[in-house]
Amino acid sequence: MKKTVKDVDLKNKKILMRVDYNVPINEKGEIEDDTRIKESLPTIKYLLEQNCAIILMSHLGRPKGKPEAKYSLAPVAKRLEQLLNKPVLMAKGIVDNETKSMAEKLSSGEIMLLENIRFDPREEKDDPEFAKELVSLVGPDGVFVQDAFGSVHRAHTSTHAVAKLLPSVCGFLLEKEIKYFDKILYSPERPFVAILGGAKVSDKIGVIENLINKVDVIIIGGAMAYTFLSSKGISTGNSLVEKDKIDLAKELLKKAEMKNVRIFLPIDHIIADKIADDAQVKHCDTPDIPEGYIGVDVGPNSISRVANIITSAKTIVWNGPMGVFEIEKFQQGTKDIALLVAEATKKGATSVVGGGDSVSAVKKFAVEDSISHISTGGGASLELLEGKSLPGIEVLQDK
Ligand code: 3PG
Repeated sequence: MKKTVKDVDLKNKKILMRVDYNVPINEKGEIEDDTRIKESLPTIKYLLEQNCAIILMSHLGRPKGKPEAKYSLAPVAKRLEQLLNKPVLMAKGIVDNETKSMAEKLSSGEIMLLENIRFDPREEKDDPEFAKELVSLVGPDGVFVQDAFGSVHRAHTSTHAVAKLLPSVCGFLLEKEIKYFDKILYSPERPFVAILGGAKVSDKIGVIENLINKVDVIIIGGAMAYTFLSSKGISTGNSLVEKDKIDLAKELLKKAEMKNVRIFLPIDHIIADKIADDAQVKHCDTPDIPEGYIGVDVGPNSISRVANIITSAKTIVWNGPMGVFEIEKFQQGTKDIALLVAEATKKGATSVVGGGDSVSAVKKFAVEDSISHISTGGGASLELLEGKSLPGIEVLQDK
């Protein structure tokens, strides 16, 4: 168990806090989804109650170690200001003289946000010298608070090296994320059902290998299902199949069978002549997909077959959509899964949804309030599901 902000005395301290404000911003500079900013508020508010001065740091996008206007965190500072209803000082730099002097003058109850930490080429190198410079902003009595769950799989300077130099604890968001993933992975109530989708088997190999040792049922949808179907000799028409992963898919199915894990692949499909709004769409009532057609969603029979299994589960983890749900004609399978997971949760199951696309689906189909935990991490949640320990968590102080 890692220490949290509640386990240390933070009264009147200067805090260096890592948040994940890597949020989608459109060409007009507008934030399209502020969930990650909102999710950082409980920790920030608690620190303010403790009369702390808070220096926030985050990355945004993947700039190549130098400033780029489109990756500036300035719009985030504005949004945070609105959400907190209090000024947030936006630094123009990271550890330049102007920022250092701002940090020095920062008083209790004030907040400042450093510019995108990835504007410094040393960030992604887990650089001890850069870490020292960052830590000097809060001084030797400072405390490091890690609340950037979405970034704890990165051993970068702001997620790892800095934590070695200060007392380092979890914020409330990180604590909540760890609590849910620990619960489902290490003490799940059974039956435990995993629903996996998305385009590629290659992205989910580690997850499937790890979950085979933990779950009772795996439901597979999305384009990755066609690679599995292909490995069973089922024709997949023009669907996306990773030919070089067919043997691996066969092996994973065999491993699951040996562990008595039931795997459900689609038995019918929604098929289309192309992936577009104006596609010709039809229901394919068999597992085999005819030539000239692409599988774009799981069919209604596949959903009916797993509906009871999902609604009687006690633990559910869902990662990846069942089809190309961004297109209305291809959304039904993903929508049905979202509704079934919500129904199971209302009946008492613990449900965890992770990964950008399935989180978007949960929001699109308006069931976010009926899911136990919607993770704010894409890569980080996948690595936890793969059974990996994450450097940004490991480095924090134990209770
Ligand atoms: C994410 O969005 O998954 C995190 O912010 C991590 O971003 P990264 O993959 O660029 O490190």
